[in-house]
Amino acid sequence: MRNLMIAGNWKMNKTYEEGVVLAQGLADALTGKEFKGVDVVVCPPTVDLKGVSEVIDQAQAPFALGAQNVYWEESGAFTGETAPSMLTAVNATYCIIGHSERRGYFGETDEDINKKAKALMAHDIVPISCCGEPLEVREAGKHVEFVVDQIKKDTEGLDLSDPSKYVIAYEPIWAIGTGKTATADDAQEVCCAIRETLAEIFGKETADKVRVLYGGSAKPGNIAELVAKPDVDGALVGGASLKADSFSEMVLNAAATL
Ligand code: 13P
Repeated sequence: MRNLMIAGNWKMNKTYEEGVVLAQGLADALTGKEFKGVDVVVCPPTVDLKGVSEVIDQAQAPFALGAQNVYWEESGAFTGETAPSMLTAVNATYCIIGHSERRGYFGETDEDINKKAKALMAHDIVPISCCGEPLEVREAGKHVEFVVDQIKKDTEGLDLSDPSKYVIAYEPIWAIGTGKTATADDAQEVCCAIRETLAEIFGKETADKVRVLYGGSAKPGNIAELVAKPDVDGALVGGASLKADSFSEMVLNAAATL
């Protein structure tokens, strides 16, 4: 019903040349392999996008390109920012928004994230919209309501008439880069609550078609268990996406569950 998705968030890692080498390594590792039913995306730093795009094009690589951030204006005096049309120009078809690192270090709000989603969708770029609770919220047992509140604000007024073109990533902050993975049951609990929230807002048929990923120390050894859960449709991967062998292994391990 829904394709799985394995998306790599390289974060602020890999210079232009290193990014090209990683993309080429991934193309080599995945070309000719069987992973029907799994969509693969790599999200390099902005300055690497063009180089990775060229690798994908030349190698006919079986993965898509995503950015890590965008601004919602079309053009103009917004120093340091990147417009949706600039992403399209380098063939980026996905873009991560609302990552907890951007919320935490750069003060992004749910309102900003909602505007970014609308701007991307107007340019036919698929948002990978992140949500997730900090440790103290989890410890207080308030994680579901915290994430549901983020989802309501982040999706306000979106047109999900093509639900395959909007992706959510649930990333509990305490599990990011810590080696502390949420259990598959933890991931399922929140991913299910996210889908129920989408069903309330957009209807069940739409909600059933939106991919909800898990992120936070996802790796080759735990991806199968995660995607075996009914509401976990793949992973947004940080550390394990920085090496072609571990990332390609995740793709194949996810595919093996289908
Ligand atoms: P890690 O996989 O390194 O924990 O990072 C997760 C993440 O933040 C992906 O966006």
